[in-house]
Amino acid sequence: MSADTKQKFSKLTVILHWTVALIIIGLLVVGTYMEENEVYSLYDIHKSIGILIFAIILIRVIWRLKNGFPKPLGKAKAWEVTLSKIVHWVLLIGTILFPISGMMLSGLGGHGLPLFGMELVAPNYVDGQAVPINADLAKLGHQMHGALAKIMILAIILHVAGALKHVFVYKDGTLRRMLGGKIEAD
Ligand code: HEM
Ligand code: HEM
Repeated sequence: MSADTKQKFSKLTVILHWTVALIIIGLLVVGTYMEENEVYSLYDIHKSIGILIFAIILIRVIWRLKNGFPKPLGKAKAWEVTLSKIVHWVLLIGTILFPISGMMLSGLGGHGLPLFGMELVAPNYVDGQAVPINADLAKLGHQMHGALAKIMILAIILHVAGALKHVFVYKDGTLRRMLGGKIEAD
């Protein structure tokens, strides 16, 4: 698998970025909606997709650490480049902690871990009530999951604003490169 260059990203980088990006945004929307409106029918599908995407996230993070981060393009100012690097780290770490905290709150909370109909961890119900396997860790997972929702929404807004600034203000190939295009750069 060829590595990323300044002019062109590898197919793996592009596929992993957009797969993880779209699924994370989808799970953020579904998670917030189902929790606020208590739509319990959506919980199993939210958990299953979250566990599945965890495997893809791990591949993505290993690939990124092995391959290094993209070289910045265009006329972005030094503080913008620094901010973009911080946001990339927040996004990467957030994508790892989201599924881990979700599995903690569900599995250790006694609600079970379903994966598309299979039971990875069985629910621990007594008289119809979930009994936590480890109440402290389940609570920590719950708090992390809720805090991550806020942090990641902010990080994604900054990230997309940065991408749009490259398109409309700096008019360089930053977005085109992440869409798989070959661009001119020295
Ligand atoms: C639809 C919205 C999104 C757009 C338009 C977008 C666009 C981009 C672009 C253009 C780059 C390349 C930056 C560069 O060359 O310096 C990039 C990199 C990156 N994006 Fe996004 N992105 C989006 C959503 C997301 C989401 C939701 C996540 C994470 C949950 C994410 C995580 C990352 C990371 C970690 C990088 C660093 C490079 C890498 O690891 O491949 N992006 N994004
Ligand atoms: C991988 C990416 C994931 C994202 C982006 C995500 C996102 C979210 C969000 C935004 C919420 C609403 C939180 C709030 O408003 O306070 C939520 C709730 C929830 N998530 Fe996730 N989640 C992910 C993975 C998982 C996984 C893997 C599980 C379990 C296996 C899980 C289980 C839950 C549960 C049970 C709730 C509802 C909690 C409650 O009703 O109190 N999530 N998720």
